[in-house]
Amino acid sequence: MKFFADTAEIADIRELNDAGLLDGVTTNPSLIHKSGRDFMEVTKEICGIVDGPVSAEVVALDHETMMKEADVLRKIADNVCIKVPLTIDGLKTCRALTRDGTMVNVTLCFSANQALLAAKAGATFVSPFVGRHDDNGVDGMDLIRDIRLIYDNYDFTTEILVASVRHVVHVLESARIGADVMTAPPKVIKSLANHVLTDKGIEGFLADWAKTGQSIL
Ligand code: E4P
Repeated sequence: MKFFADTAEIADIRELNDAGLLDGVTTNPSLIHKSGRDFMEVTKEICGIVDGPVSAEVVALDHETMMKEADVLRKIADNVCIKVPLTIDGLKTCRALTRDGTMVNVTLCFSANQALLAAKAGATFVSPFVGRHDDNGVDGMDLIRDIRLIYDNYDFTTEILVASVRHVVHVLESARIGADVMTAPPKVIKSLANHVLTDKGIEGFLADWAKTGQSIL
């Protein structure tokens, strides 16, 4: 399963990338606002750090203007992936862009039928939002199971990009189901390394090492 970081924070992106934990980045208008950075500038910087796809989202609602915005965004770098909302205009834009060889991430997917449409429109990625479903009392991971089943039934090549990931169990379940990608805040990705027995083990080994009176360097 590929790991994307759901952030526009450069320091976090560099840290995860240096640890070999990053296959791409997703941003959205809210994350750009949170970063306090210029959209074009920060997207260019991220594209220079990460080899994989970097999602940059259009904000227009009609197909024509979406295409104009996508034209500006895809010139930033070869690894820019245009993010469009799951609406008819978004799907139309998806179709036009992917036919042209541009990567497209269809975002704000909340149902398996919507994911079916994204695949038919030739999306590179579809982003089902699991956390926002959980917030509304519905198990978001059930949506991922449904989409996996449907995509496998018809051999769709659109990659399932689990989004709105809030905690480590979302990551574990995504991997169990066989999602292609998950995007999570850097804090969640880093916390995957945490285990109390790892900390305890290090403590014990270091205590015994100190007793030997030796040093490696
Ligand atoms: C996906 O690409 C979105 O940027 C993101 O995962 C949304 O997450 P949220 O529901 O935590 O805002």
